[in-house]
Amino acid sequence: MYFKFGNMALVLALLFSATAWSQQNYGPQAAMEEAKLAISLTPDLEQGRELYKICVVCHGPEGWGSSNGYYPQVAGQLPSVTIKQLADIRARNRDNPTMFPFSMPSVLGGAQEMANVAAYIAALPMTPVNDFGPGHDLELGERLYKHECAECHGDQGQGDAKDHVPLVYGQHYSYLKRQFTWIRYGKRRNADEKMVKQIQRFTGREVSAVLDYVSRLRPPAGKMAPKEWRNPDFPAFSRRNLPTPMLLHEQPARTGSEG
Ligand code: HEC
Ligand code: HEC
Repeated sequence: MYFKFGNMALVLALLFSATAWSQQNYGPQAAMEEAKLAISLTPDLEQGRELYKICVVCHGPEGWGSSNGYYPQVAGQLPSVTIKQLADIRARNRDNPTMFPFSMPSVLGGAQEMANVAAYIAALPMTPVNDFGPGHDLELGERLYKHECAECHGDQGQGDAKDHVPLVYGQHYSYLKRQFTWIRYGKRRNADEKMVKQIQRFTGREVSAVLDYVSRLRPPAGKMAPKEWRNPDFPAFSRRNLPTPMLLHEQPARTGSEG
């Protein structure tokens, strides 16, 4: 009980200072500049591993997120994409109240730290068993993907580092669906304008079909973990205790120092 309360106080304190900080200093423009700088730096993987301890409680020691899609898989993502998302979340250009306090300079650090943790994440192998859709409309999904998405996200879903277009193969279906919907309706303010226009006329069936197809695009062999792989950097982490969204509200994040 005491332990729980201690964590709650920490999270509230973080939230409070984070809110004050971001309102003063940091908007979408500053985020863009910091992301640009971070992308140009040479990352330090060792440091990245240290920093990843902050992220482990939510994204998991393997970086695979949760199969219900509440936490995305971050493993394998292109560094430029991770960096841009971190900066956008920090600038509140992408709403992520759960993660926001952990994106603050006082916790995460600056451009060099963003580069370090992004490089660490990029090198993590991806899960072989992500969440899929229902699977009954994959031909339509494939057709749509090739015509409407591949020009930016790549023919295999590999993304594009130069334009920080996310790699989408192997991502959890339920996460893809939430982001797609938020992008479409403008809730995700950092969205790509051209993509937003392109997906406006999609019907519900088409959305499900194309994202089901995307979730089934396999990462290349070199980027996928063997079944049962466990990240040796976090041998002591109890994987049964990864918080579910509900638990997270009752039991605010631990400090992530295990491992
Ligand atoms: C308290 C939980 C929590 C912690 C700690 C946390 N995250 Fe997250 N993160 C989330 C949630 C929830 C989302 C998805 C939000 C949404 O649906 O838009 C997310 C999204 C992301 C995304 C966007 C992924 C994408 O494909 O769009 C990145 C990148 C990310 N987190 C990286 C990190 C890194 C790096 C750390 C550690 C420095 C970290 N997170 C710590 C909860 C957390
Ligand atoms: C004009 C280029 C473009 C097109 C076309 C496009 N996208 Fe995107 N998409 C982007 C960019 C750029 C982002 C990242 C924006 C940001 O947050 O910085 C993105 C983000 C996403 C995300 C969120 C990924 C994550 O990890 O958070 C999903 C899902 C997605 N796109 C799916 C699709 C699908 C499916 C299609 C086709 C129906 C499509 N996109 C068409 C450029 C495009």
